[in-house]
Amino acid sequence: TVHELIDKLNKEHALKKEEWVFLLGHRTEEDAEYLFSCARKQQQKYFGNCVYTRGLIEFTNICRNDCYYCGIRKSNPNAERYRLTTEQILSCAKSGYELGFRTFVLQGGEDLAYKDEDIVCLVRTIKEAYPDCAVTLSIGEKSYESYQKYFDAGADRYLLRHETADEVHYRKLHPAELSLEHRKQCLYDLKEIGYQVGCGFMVGSPGQTYETLAEDMLFITKVQPQMVGIGPFIPHHDTPFREEQAGTLELTLFLLGLLRLLIPNLLLPATTALGTIAPTGREQGILAGANVVMPNLSPVGVRKKYELYDNKICTGDEAAECRGCLNRRMESIGYELVVDRGDFVPVSGL
Ligand code: 5AD
Ligand code: FES
Repeated sequence: TVHELIDKLNKEHALKKEEWVFLLGHRTEEDAEYLFSCARKQQQKYFGNCVYTRGLIEFTNICRNDCYYCGIRKSNPNAERYRLTTEQILSCAKSGYELGFRTFVLQGGEDLAYKDEDIVCLVRTIKEAYPDCAVTLSIGEKSYESYQKYFDAGADRYLLRHETADEVHYRKLHPAELSLEHRKQCLYDLKEIGYQVGCGFMVGSPGQTYETLAEDMLFITKVQPQMVGIGPFIPHHDTPFREEQAGTLELTLFLLGLLRLLIPNLLLPATTALGTIAPTGREQGILAGANVVMPNLSPVGVRKKYELYDNKICTGDEAAECRGCLNRRMESIGYELVVDRGDFVPVSGL
């Protein structure tokens, strides 16, 4: 039964493919409640009621890729393109530091205007200004050598969602220039270099099935990443997927719970996309087992332009102060935002 499989996952931290498919396909509301209570026990054990924060700096929305789901894909002529200057980025980091952020996530499209030296310089500058902070990069697929240079400059972590671990599904989401094989290779390279690595996927992307989700769970089991980012797919009006259905809150929460049991000490964000499909999506994500939130630190003037999907929250002027907003939200469910780098802590014997 689903209940037994949840217990098995909680004990063995792995399942077979057929078991994942069964678990996903037969889940009920009661199963979800049981899953979330197990997930919260693990979350409490490793993190107490603490929620880690990452300050997200979206420093360029220029991208060479053309992913069918993404609002900043290169063939969207309606995206207003921007790049932040180094000064702007540093000023985001400064206000972020003062607000209590101790991790900065530099995220951008695959913008070839930034040479390795530019990224290296950016990472060095931030690490010099804020030696007690972690720097996370999220700038897509690069060579082993490039990843090594950024790491040597002081980058601590790297986020690169694999998007789906199923070849056929990957082809439905991306044009031929991108390959799942290369995406996976990047993740293995990043791990080997010594980054704390995050992979992940959208929930409910077009063509996703319980089989492809089972593949995602098997891939995550194999990679053993330190972080996993998941959030619902949300259609963007200027993409080929404009007419597709969004992913659901319910399935996203269920998957968050499963990920907490799969890797109990995992860094697992309740994402902005989750907060976009439901007003209290991020709070519900934390109660399902997530333990990280990643509010936006980008200048308010560019936030609307980094529109990966429609109706993204925190892009209006209400959003000048996301940390305060999230603080209240977390306190409303008995959790607390902490001033901490929030590094992955390995646990022996898992
Ligand atoms: N809906 C939800 N998430 C999206 N992403 C990109 N486009 C969308 C969308 N339409 C996610 C991808 C990417 C991350 C930065 O944002 O998974 O890896
Ligand atoms: Fe950004 Fe609430 S978290 S406005």
